[in-house]
Amino acid sequence: MEKNRKGIILAGGIGSRLHPLTQVISKQLLPVFDKPMIYYPLSTLMLAGIKQIAIVSTPQDLPKFKKLLRTGKQWGLKLSYIEQKKPNGIAEAFILAKNFIKDSPSCLILGDNIYHGNNLSNILKEADEDRENSTVFTYQVKDPERFGVLNLDKKGNPVKIVEKPKSPKSNLAITGLYFFPKDVVFRTKNLKPSKRGELEITDLNQSYLTDKKLRVKALNRGFTWMDTGTFDSLLEASNFISLVQNRQNTIVACPEEIAYGNKWINKSDVKRVAKLMQSAYGQYLKNFIR
Ligand code: DAU
Repeated sequence: MEKNRKGIILAGGIGSRLHPLTQVISKQLLPVFDKPMIYYPLSTLMLAGIKQIAIVSTPQDLPKFKKLLRTGKQWGLKLSYIEQKKPNGIAEAFILAKNFIKDSPSCLILGDNIYHGNNLSNILKEADEDRENSTVFTYQVKDPERFGVLNLDKKGNPVKIVEKPKSPKSNLAITGLYFFPKDVVFRTKNLKPSKRGELEITDLNQSYLTDKKLRVKALNRGFTWMDTGTFDSLLEASNFISLVQNRQNTIVACPEEIAYGNKWINKSDVKRVAKLMQSAYGQYLKNFIR
């Protein structure tokens, strides 16, 4: 039988670009409008149908994530918590999570990345179905020098991925969501730390690209991808979520709603969570199971 894909949310780092906001609280716990940032990547993994998820964060912050998300049972999930003592790079997550991944395919999402758009769940499920190749997602941006950037040849085929290039050769950012086959731990162990001393996700992706095992999917302009790593992008994300939710009277990234839609929990499970929340979020939960 095919193994289920395991999910990893990377939610560590020192948040230095957001000081003093992140001096005593983890970036991924900051609010994005009405919910903690980590709800968004968590919901994305749930939309991909992934139930076993590890949260990787610092020894100081991990207890706060545990307090917020608990075992995950309330959403039909099985959550694990893994310490990253120092921010040694995004790809280090695979080494730290090797006993969690075992020989399953995996999916890593950065805790500060938000995905919203039509058909998201099908896009993710399609990536999940490919067990031989890795899949990454690109998004057209105006400031590619802030991201991992995909270089294309004249025919539009991917040729190289460059981390934060000074003179980007394209405007296609590689976003913070990566589907990998079961060999990811082995490949990560073969990576060498970069000049800044980190195991780079870009080097890992490049190794799949070199072996012709990297699939690149473009998220089109009807789609919204946000990285909330700066003051402006954090505020923009809150404003965006508020606008969409208020206009449509929906909640973006509501784990209870996704779990209920996936039939992982039932009405009384939703009611139990709703009872604990006096907010508009709690009211929304009560309404959708009515
Ligand atoms: O958002 C997409 C971009 O994310 C990609 O385009 C880049 O290729 C990728 O390197 C990454 O760039 P960032 O500049 O956002 O990387 P940063 O070092 O800020 O790490 C991203 C998140 O992961 C951040 O919220 C902190 C967390 N992190 C990072 C490292 C290096 C950890 O939890 N542990 C780590 O060791």
